[in-house]
Amino acid sequence: MKPDRKPMIFESHAHYDSQQFNEDRDELLMSMPEKGIGTIINSGADWDSVTEVVELAQKYPHVYAAVGMHPDEVGDLNEERFQFLKSQCQKEKVVAVGEIGLDYYWDNESHDVQKKWFTRQLELARELDLPVIIHSRDAAADTLEMMKEYGKGLRGVIHCFSYSKEMALEYVKMGFHIGVGGVVTFKNSKKLKEVVEAIPLERILLETDCPYLAPTPFRGKRNSSLYIPYIAEEIANLKGVTYEEVVAQTEQNGKMLFNIQ
Ligand code: NI
Repeated sequence: MKPDRKPMIFESHAHYDSQQFNEDRDELLMSMPEKGIGTIINSGADWDSVTEVVELAQKYPHVYAAVGMHPDEVGDLNEERFQFLKSQCQKEKVVAVGEIGLDYYWDNESHDVQKKWFTRQLELARELDLPVIIHSRDAAADTLEMMKEYGKGLRGVIHCFSYSKEMALEYVKMGFHIGVGGVVTFKNSKKLKEVVEAIPLERILLETDCPYLAPTPFRGKRNSSLYIPYIAEEIANLKGVTYEEVVAQTEQNGKMLFNIQ
């Protein structure tokens, strides 16, 4: 059977609302489809992004939005703002609540405040029947505990996964996907390479987290979805499959998870 179209890269996590794209955002986003990037999920993070990601999704056919407040930014939330965030989640082409979670590396907000808004945003995803995009840094145990308590039955992705393969398998068992980005191309990323080897390709999503975390050989430079082929290539090597299989399967994974036709 011949597929009706060539598989295209599904970019599951980008921040094109970032100021780092002010110079060339339009040109860059317009060029994505001809360069093989078929779908982009632009993820919310701070308060400004709650409106910006929705605007970008309305402007570009291949761009979708996730709306949510990153754990470093939840100090800017209050009840009134939370209601506005909820209304943004119900806009067209908003396909997830994210990124939300816990960040004990930067520790911008107290753990109690982070947990409070993480819980509220998980409950919001459940109420609106949307998948979640989870950010978790240096908070492995608390994140898993909260996902077991408040995330049960939800679907979603643990983005920029940085924990052990045992932890990855635990999330896979719970039904979640694992987001793999530029870090997998770094020589010293033994742990993430082990994660990729251990979990099924059916649970992997490609992501950049651009403008951050550019893959080798662009490490330290501004990242964009155009560098995803380097990530897909490394995953193909680790799993002993072709590059085309990685692109096709991860595209299917993304479309299923975020309910994109
Ligand atoms: Ni991000």
